[in-house]
Amino acid sequence: MSENPGIPVDPSTQEPLLPLRAPAEDAPRPATAPHVPRRILVLGATSGIAETCCRIWAERGDSLFLVARNADKLAAVAADLRTRGARYVDTAVANLDDTAAHPDLLARAINSLAGLDVAFLALGILGDQPEAERSFAHAHEILHTNYTAPVSLLTWLANYCAQRHGGTLAVLSSVAGDRGRKSNYVYGSSKAGLTAFLGGLRNRIDREGVRVLTIKPGPVKTAMTEGMKGSQKFADVEAVAATIVKAIDAALGKGPDVLYVPGIWRIIMAVIRAIPEAIFKKWNL
Ligand SMILES: NC(=O)c1ccc[n+]([C@@H]2O[C@H](COP(=O)([O-])OP(=O)(O)OC[C@H]3O[C@@H](n4cnc5c(N)ncnc54)[C@H](OP(=O)(O)O)[C@@H]3O)[C@@H](O)[C@H]2O)c1
Repeated sequence: MSENPGIPVDPSTQEPLLPLRAPAEDAPRPATAPHVPRRILVLGATSGIAETCCRIWAERGDSLFLVARNADKLAAVAADLRTRGARYVDTAVANLDDTAAHPDLLARAINSLAGLDVAFLALGILGDQPEAERSFAHAHEILHTNYTAPVSLLTWLANYCAQRHGGTLAVLSSVAGDRGRKSNYVYGSSKAGLTAFLGGLRNRIDREGVRVLTIKPGPVKTAMTEGMKGSQKFADVEAVAATIVKAIDAALGKGPDVLYVPGIWRIIMAVIRAIPEAIFKKWNL
């Protein structure tokens, strides 16, 4: 029997066992730090690209505020994200073309999330290029949804984030904005304007601690491109979403400012931009 009944003994030698040491303060940490849940506002949440990003965010336990104009689709997306493990999901049905309603909508979203870490803008319409050539009304619709409405949302969000010296504004622009082409120059010009706006905004508020991420996807398989010629060769939305989520996760000063996705589009567009106008104008692109 041990003389110290409180201390465990080695059964073979009856020697007291040394107590286990507490881990040292500087003991190595696990390789992957636990994920810190984020508060993410998604504008245009029924978009194929946005919904796929939201699934990743939900599965890792982030909080989401989803805005879309189609109530039924939005309810289905929100229900799916809850079952996937989102920490918190709230929604608002809104036609984002209504810029006058933006301040109240954004304030409500941020109130519901109790703050904001990321705003992800995914709204957009491809429109009908031949129709936009015939009718300024349709061209204006494309420009309004793809340029004016995002500018209104970003103006409010940028001021909110700049005042708090934090947050990421991640916006889906497009490679189509890198050079005007006859097949979709109205859509392309709306994205060119958005890209230029985001560049200037970044130049203004990066130094305030706010990240502005311009995302330029090449063609991706979503509802927007369904039925388009060659669409079976377009990028897979899951791979595109995974790349976007990773880029959004990067800390200020560490991640890209402009993300081409898939990455090959950075090279393709550099080549396309380098073609002299005198040659380019004769091509059917
Ligand atoms: N797919 C591509 O190849 C590609 C390439 C480059 C850039 N992008 C850009 O990526 C973004 C997402 O596109 P996607 O591929 O995911 O296509 P999508 O599934 O058609 O998504 C577009 C989303 O925008 C929403 N939307 C349009 N106008 C709106 C408005 N006034 N108010 C609220 N929501 C509105 C649509 O809502 P409804 O569901 O109600 O129509 C839809 O959810 C767009 O900005 C697009 O221009 C896409």
